[in-house]
Amino acid sequence: MQDCTNRPERLDKLLASSGLVSRSEAKTAVARGRVTVDGISARSPEQKVTRGADIRLDGIPVDTSPFLYIMLNKPAGYVCSTEDGDGPTVLDLLAGPDIRRGLFPAGRLDKDTVGLLILTNDGASAHRWLSPKRHVEKRYFFRCARPLDEAAIAALERGVDIGGLLTKPAHLTAEIGGTEGKITITEGKFHQIKRMFTAVGNGITFLERICFAGLPLDPALPRGGYRRLTDTEIRKLINPK
Ligand code: URA
Repeated sequence: MQDCTNRPERLDKLLASSGLVSRSEAKTAVARGRVTVDGISARSPEQKVTRGADIRLDGIPVDTSPFLYIMLNKPAGYVCSTEDGDGPTVLDLLAGPDIRRGLFPAGRLDKDTVGLLILTNDGASAHRWLSPKRHVEKRYFFRCARPLDEAAIAALERGVDIGGLLTKPAHLTAEIGGTEGKITITEGKFHQIKRMFTAVGNGITFLERICFAGLPLDPALPRGGYRRLTDTEIRKLINPK
């Protein structure tokens, strides 16, 4: 599903795009006879191969899909960045060849926010999901510091002033007098939900993203765990209705 062009490309480039080996390691692997293409020992690193070919390194199939889409269940304490700064990054949770595939977090969750985060190396698609014009829905489970009253729920749903910015209408599922619920927003302003609750005299004590662009967080994923999106999920994400 992932590649629509499927033009033949150099074998060493395809091997390196899998993250398993660097370009120079790919050349050495071919020279040492460790690589096969459709069951035949590869002749040269320059050999032109399509991504649909059965490429194997040491007999193990190589994933040459150009783009990866990963669902991660972000734990607290990790920053959504590609560089270390204020603590470990979500990329530190990746293992194996995925580390070298140029993945980045599509959007940001605060360091203390947990839950669904999409990682990809498909910059154009990520740009579309994150565009404010697309109004992609993000749903969060929250706990707040003080009981919610009717006026606060109505204000959060209508839109509140978060320092000169009026938030777009949100949807809340919460009981009057309760201190937890679900909120769906279509924007992604910095600390948006925390600032919305501050604006109604409350505060967020726990925040978990449970749905992004119609994709629910997989309940089988432990915190810190991740998995590839299925083709159906990728289609849903790339072509939202
Ligand atoms: N809103 C916040 O305040 N923090 C997040 O991490 C996400 C949404």
